[in-house]
Amino acid sequence: MSSYPYADRFPVNRTFPEQGRDRADVLAEMTQLAKEEDQSWETGRVSGTMYCGDHDHYSFMNDVFGLYAHVNILQRDICPSATRYEGEVLAMTLDLFNADAVTDGEPVGLVTSGGTGSITHAVLAYREKAAQDRGVTRPNFIKPETGHPAFDKACHLFGVELRRAPVDPVTTQVDVEWVRANIDDQTIGMMGSACNYGYGTIDPIEALSDLAVEAGIPLHVDGCLGGFILPFGQELGLDIPVFDFRLPGVTSISADTHKYGYAFKGTSTVLFRDKSWRNSQYFFLTDWTGGKYCSPGMDGSRSGGLLAATWAAMVQLGKEGYRSYAKAIFDTSKAMQDAVRSHPELKILGEPTFLFSFTSDEFDIYHVNDFMRPRGWRFNGQQYPNALHMAVTRPQTQDGVVEAFVADLAEAVAYAKEKGQEPAASGAVYGGVAGGMNDEADEFIKMFMAQMMDEQQALPPL
Ligand SMILES: Cc1ncc(COP(=O)(O)O)c(C=O)c1O
Repeated sequence: MSSYPYADRFPVNRTFPEQGRDRADVLAEMTQLAKEEDQSWETGRVSGTMYCGDHDHYSFMNDVFGLYAHVNILQRDICPSATRYEGEVLAMTLDLFNADAVTDGEPVGLVTSGGTGSITHAVLAYREKAAQDRGVTRPNFIKPETGHPAFDKACHLFGVELRRAPVDPVTTQVDVEWVRANIDDQTIGMMGSACNYGYGTIDPIEALSDLAVEAGIPLHVDGCLGGFILPFGQELGLDIPVFDFRLPGVTSISADTHKYGYAFKGTSTVLFRDKSWRNSQYFFLTDWTGGKYCSPGMDGSRSGGLLAATWAAMVQLGKEGYRSYAKAIFDTSKAMQDAVRSHPELKILGEPTFLFSFTSDEFDIYHVNDFMRPRGWRFNGQQYPNALHMAVTRPQTQDGVVEAFVADLAEAVAYAKEKGQEPAASGAVYGGVAGGMNDEADEFIKMFMAQMMDEQQALPPL
């Protein structure tokens, strides 16, 4: 992707312009770009990323956002409604995860900036509490190999050794006995996914919960992706196991309001079985010349707009709204999975839910991607084994999308069969599919990714 995607149409601001521009002109230019870019996912052919995809919903949330976008919720006295919205977002999410079943603690939470934010807060809380209560100085944390990289990032940031538990190649679920064998007196916690990003499968959370109770270490359930849809699947009678606070070993849960919570990007929740977990990572600086400082999480200033819009999305849709969206998504995912299963050359990994992943033993699955990409399909690419994943969201529930998937997939399979094990043009990059990266050495891949990030974040000279 170019570092200057619109250089042929608009001037590039290499320097801070001396003179300002007309508001209407700025808005017109940006409206044009945003509308053009929306077209890529409005077709319903893009995996994940646009969870709601409903412009009326976005417009309602924009109205709410506009009321509070300028407010800094650090200043609670100026904006008591932020306290109301934050408290109620947390209360509603705690309710969704059956926190009322907890008899051995006082359930609480934090609103964070996203899934990674929620996960890092949980890992930090676990590290701090293990240090305070158990004197742990060489912390380690256990995650299934399929756990999100946000756990690796959190461990990297907070000096925690990460132990990666293997998963069963068929079910894609974590090997609980491996976890048991690798817990020691420096283990600050472990996690399981409901569901994981790669395969949409759910770890054996009940077995992990039993182990957590037995070993006396906390268990985080990563519901960043599934948290706002799986509970509605349970209510709809789908075969989705219990993974929430009803299980005695579950000490924290992350659930992203900015995914299937249908809020704007920039909010998530992390919930704790007891307040002592959350409070262990509170930060206080009492002797600063600028005044006494304390913060409940890693952020400083935060916009009231995102919080208000998240609250508005939840109360406007209500459980009824979420349930009906969930039904359409689960039905669509099943229809797409049936299409994949109708091809004996394709194989779905594990027992997925709303998100599924498929591979092939007969050909490199990226040939399927190569064929479908020009038709507007954007799957997420995976490796070990090479696989394509489709996170079904509301845009796929539109009329005609499943039918197009069925037809294009059939042609793509025929194309891939011709190509066999010849190398495909595309390969696996998290959140998307990039070209030509299969079978390259790790160092080369890191260099390539660093260059890609450089070019996207800090523009090189023209
Ligand atoms: C299971 C899971 N956990 C955590 C995350 C991280 O969320 P975010 O990208 O909001 O930081 C994701 C993102 O897709 C996810 O799927």
